[in-house]
Amino acid sequence: MKVTIVGAGAVGASCAEYIAIKDFSDEIVLVDIKEGFAEGKAMDLMQTASLNGFDSTITGTTGDYSKTAGSDVAVITSGIPRKPGMTREELIGTNASIVKTVAENLIKHSPEVIIIVVSNPMDTMTYLAAKALGLPKNRIIGMGGALDSARFKYRLSQAMGCPASEVSAMVIGGHSDTGMVPLIEKASRNSIPVSEFLSADVQSEVVEATKVGGATLTKLLGTSAWYAPGAAVSEMVKAIALDSKKVFPCSALLEGEYGLNDLCIGVPCVIGKNGIEQILEINLSDAEKAKLSSSSEGVSKTNGLLEL
Ligand code: LAC
Repeated sequence: MKVTIVGAGAVGASCAEYIAIKDFSDEIVLVDIKEGFAEGKAMDLMQTASLNGFDSTITGTTGDYSKTAGSDVAVITSGIPRKPGMTREELIGTNASIVKTVAENLIKHSPEVIIIVVSNPMDTMTYLAAKALGLPKNRIIGMGGALDSARFKYRLSQAMGCPASEVSAMVIGGHSDTGMVPLIEKASRNSIPVSEFLSADVQSEVVEATKVGGATLTKLLGTSAWYAPGAAVSEMVKAIALDSKKVFPCSALLEGEYGLNDLCIGVPCVIGKNGIEQILEINLSDAEKAKLSSSSEGVSKTNGLLEL
C-alpha cells in the first residue's frame, strides 16, 4: 500500500511515524510546502528504520504531487493548527483554501485514492473536500471520532483505575469542544457498564473533560496535539490496508442516516479496503439523539461559512 501524508508538521510526521512502525504499508510519501521540510522529516524517520525494525520506505517532497501518484490512501493534515484559546472553527478562513487545493492535487495523481481529512475544522474540511471532489462518499473520511474516542477511553480508564485497553467507548458528533457526543451510557469496562464503577457526577466530569480534550492539550503545549491524532490516523489507515472492517466513529457524508443530510459528522463506520464500507445506524437514547442533533446544527453553521 502507498500512503501519502500532506503536511509534514507534528501531526503529519506522527502519522508517518506510527504507520511506519506498524509496518503495514510499503511506501509512505510526505508532502509539505516548506522547502526541504518533508525531505528532512522523511530522512530523519528513515534513519529510525533499523532501530524500530520497519521496512516501509518514507520519502519527502516539497509540493511535487507527481511523487504521490498511485496512492491508495492520502491523509490531509495541512493548514494551521490552533493556538491556546482558539476554537477549531476559527481556522476555517486559512485552512479551507489549503485543503481544497491539496485535495484537488491528490486526486489528479491518484484518481482512486481514499482521503482522510485531519485539518480543522475537521468536519467542515471533510465536507469541503467531499463537495469539491465529488468522490463517492466511502472515499472521504474525516478523522476526529477515533481520536476523541481514544481520549474518552483515557479519561474513563483514569477515573476507573484500569488500563485504557479494557475500555470500550465511543464519541460521535462533531469534532469540536461543544459538538462532541461521548456515548457514556454505552461505555463499558470489559463489557461491564461504566455506571457500575463511576458515580453520575464523575461520569459527567469525564464527558466534559473529553469534549475539551484537544483544547486542554493546546493550552499545555502552546499548539495542538500530535501523538494521539497521528496514532488515530494510523489505526484507520491500517484498517484500510488490512481490510479489517473495524468500527471507528468517522466524519462521513450523511444522506439521511440518523435523520441528517448534507453534512459530514462523526458516526460509527465500518472501515475496510474501500474506506467507509458501512455507516452503522445504532440505537441512540433520546438524550443522545438530542445531542447529536444539536451537534449537527453547529457543524452545519460552520459549513455555512464555506464558499462552495
Ligand atoms: C485535536 C486536533 C487534532 O483534537 O483537532 O487535537
